[in-house]
Amino acid sequence: MALTQAGSSGDHWSSRTAFILAAVGAAVGLGNIWRFPTLAGENGGGAFVLVYIGFVILLGLPLVLSEILLGRAGGTDAIGSVEKVAEQSRRSRNWKGIGALQITAGFLILSFYSVVAGWVINYVLISGQDWLAALFSGAPFAPAFAGENQGTITGRMSELFASPWRLIGLHGIFMVATVWIVASGVHNGIERAAKWLMPAFFILLIIVTVYGAFTGNFAEAVAFMFTPDFSQLNPIALNEALGQALFSLSLAAGGLLTYGAYITRDVNLASTAVMIAMMDTGVAIIAGLMIFPIVFAVGLDPASGPALIFQSLPVAFNSMPAGALVGFVFFILIFFAALTSSISLLEGPTAWVIDRFRIVRPLAAIMVGSVAFLIGVICALGYNVWADVRPLGFWNAFAQNDILDALDGVTGKIMLPLGAFLVSIFIGWMADRRLVQQQTGLSNGMFAVWRFLVAWVCPIAVGLVLLFGLVPGLLGS
Ligand code: TRP
Repeated sequence: MALTQAGSSGDHWSSRTAFILAAVGAAVGLGNIWRFPTLAGENGGGAFVLVYIGFVILLGLPLVLSEILLGRAGGTDAIGSVEKVAEQSRRSRNWKGIGALQITAGFLILSFYSVVAGWVINYVLISGQDWLAALFSGAPFAPAFAGENQGTITGRMSELFASPWRLIGLHGIFMVATVWIVASGVHNGIERAAKWLMPAFFILLIIVTVYGAFTGNFAEAVAFMFTPDFSQLNPIALNEALGQALFSLSLAAGGLLTYGAYITRDVNLASTAVMIAMMDTGVAIIAGLMIFPIVFAVGLDPASGPALIFQSLPVAFNSMPAGALVGFVFFILIFFAALTSSISLLEGPTAWVIDRFRIVRPLAAIMVGSVAFLIGVICALGYNVWADVRPLGFWNAFAQNDILDALDGVTGKIMLPLGAFLVSIFIGWMADRRLVQQQTGLSNGMFAVWRFLVAWVCPIAVGLVLLFGLVPGLLGS
C-alpha cells in the first residue's frame, strides 16, 4: 500500500508548516473578508456569528479532518482518492461520485470567485491611484477620495458593473495569475505563494484592524457581532451559516481532499485540522472586527449586502484619517487572501485532469482555468448585458439572484452541504474503521468523539439544514 505517496504528479508539501500555510491560505479568502461580514451583516450579527461558530466546531472541524485524511489515504486526485479508500474498505467504487461532486463544486466556485476577485483588483487599482495622487500632492495621510461625495464614491461600483470589458478583463487577469501559480506546481507554485502571501496578509490584517479599533466605532462593532438576537434566525439563515462554514473552511469542493494527498505520512492530521479551523475562524472574526467598526464609525448600514466592502468601506475611508493609504492596504490584503484560495479551487480539478487525461500540469491548469474563465464571463455579463436574468427565478430561495449570486447560492447552499453530507456518511459509516483511525492519529477516546460527530451529528444536522433551508423555498412558502 502506497499510503505515503503523494499527489497525482508525485508532488508533496515540504513540511507540515508548508501544508498548514497552504491550507490556511486556501481557507482564508473572500469567504472570510467579503462573504462572512456580508452574511453576518444581513442576518443581524450576533446570532448568526454564534451559529456559525457552532457549525465550525461541531461540523466543520470533524469534516476538515475527514477530508484531509481521505485525501492522504487515497494519495491522488479527489475522485481517485475516494475510489481507492472505497476499494480498500470493500465498498462500491461508485462512492467516487463524492469526488466528482466536489470537483464540480470547486470548479464552479472558482468561476465566480475569480470575478469577485476582479472587483478586488479594480479597487486595488482605484485606491492605489487615489493614494499615489495624495502622496504626490504632499498628503500621504489624506482621507480616501478627498473632496468627493458619497454618491461619486459608491458610484464607482456601478461604473465597474456597467462595464463588461473591465469586469471581464480583471477577472481574466486574476485567472491568469491563478493558473500561473498552479501550473508552477505544488512545491514551486502553491507552497511558495502561500509562504509569501499569507504572512504578508496577516501583517496587513493586523494593521487595518488596529486602525479600525482606534479610529472606528469598535464598541458598537463588538456589540453587533456578539450580542445574539435569536429572532433574527430562520431556516434560511441557518442554511446560509452552514454553507458559509463549509465555504470558508474550503470543505466539500475538492480543495482539502486534493491538498490532503500531498501530506506526508508523519504529519499528525488531527492537530493540523484544529489549526486550520482555528486560524480560518479567527480570521473571519477579526475581519468582522476590522470592517464593522469602520462601517459604524460613519453610520453606514451593516446589512448592505455584497457591496459592503466595495461601497460602504470606501465611503468610510473617505471620512477617516489616512483613509487613502489604509483603503489601498485593505484591498491588497483581500487580493492576497483571494489568490491563495483560488489556487486551491483550481488545484482540485487540475489534479484530476492531470490524472485522468495524463497530460502535464501546465496544460491541465490552462485548460481548467480557461473553461472556468468562460463561465465567469457569463457571471460578469449578468451585471450589465444580462442584468435582468434570474436563472433560478422559479425557486423562492434564489428568486432575486442574478447569475453570479445564483451560482454562489447553488454551490454554497446545495452542493457544499450535499458534499459534506456524503463525506460524513462515507467516513462515518463506509470507510474501514482501522484505516481511518490510523490516519487520524487520535487516541481511542478522542476517536470515538470525533467519529460520533462525523457519523451522527454531521449527517443529521446537515440533512436537516438542507431540508428546511431549501424545501420551503422550493414550495414557495
Ligand atoms: N475558503 C475560501 C474562502 O473562504 C474559498 C475556497 C477555497 C473554497 N477553496 C475552496 C471554498 C474549496 C470551497 C471549497 O474564500
